[in-house]
Amino acid sequence: MIATTAAAIGAAFGLYFTNTKKKSRPAGSSVAVAESGRKYLIGGNWKCNGTVDANAARCKIFNAAGPIPSNVEVVLCVPFVHIGMVLESLRADIAVGAQNCGLNNACGAYTGEVGSHQLKDIGCTWVIIGHSERREGFGMAGEPVDLCADKCKVALDNGMKVMFCIGEKKEERESGVTMKVCAAQLAPLAKKLTIADYENISIAYEPVWAIGTGLTATPQMAQDTHAEIRKWISENISPDVASKIRIQYGGSMKGANAKDLLAMPDIDGGLIGGASLDADFFNIVAAAPN
Ligand code: 13P
Repeated sequence: MIATTAAAIGAAFGLYFTNTKKKSRPAGSSVAVAESGRKYLIGGNWKCNGTVDANAARCKIFNAAGPIPSNVEVVLCVPFVHIGMVLESLRADIAVGAQNCGLNNACGAYTGEVGSHQLKDIGCTWVIIGHSERREGFGMAGEPVDLCADKCKVALDNGMKVMFCIGEKKEERESGVTMKVCAAQLAPLAKKLTIADYENISIAYEPVWAIGTGLTATPQMAQDTHAEIRKWISENISPDVASKIRIQYGGSMKGANAKDLLAMPDIDGGLIGGASLDADFFNIVAAAPN
């Protein structure tokens, strides 16, 4: 009985170590910008969802899904504790990302934190920074704009790619300050990043009122804001960065509305929450214009 239990524990730890050792895995598809334009970036954000078994089952669903078009790059940002398992079991043409990282750029006494250098080391390619849920804080202190920009810089310096989230709340849209809010979230980046840093960033415009609510910005509303964001980047960072940077839309995007959103000229992809948890995610991947 004791031996059996010990074997079970050993097996469990064996699995644990297998799943958390440094991964050698293709880094995901390239972010190089094609001459013809920007490559679509479809990101999934699993948020704090799933058990090992449930998320392994999700990997199986995506592994069996169709091919990824060559003009689309796909990344799944999964809970920290499942990164090792997902890196081992998910098809190699989907990059694996995290949903947050620490401000620290080296190991040390940062209890509970996960450094971007550690994400890089395990084989993660992308990290989401500044998601509105983290900016707000869900019962804990939220993350101020400068902290988000600082984390972004550290992550980039550690070789990660960043999906940097911005977006306004319902009352801010209603009072006409959407772009003012987005600009305030982007401004610290403009101060802290080098021009070369922007090669490894995508901006995820996620109106807070559309996240998890079933309310989606109409394609035209989203396009208008994306165009304003691109204009701001052109004026405050550089026209070249503005023309190359990808701006993803996030907020109740799903298979049924992705085609119309992705058809807009300034919408270069999506950051998807709920619909990235099941097979509908691949309907979004397939909806990118080719
Ligand atoms: P939903 O797609 O569930 O609205 O979530 C969007 C989001 O927050 C992605 O980061």
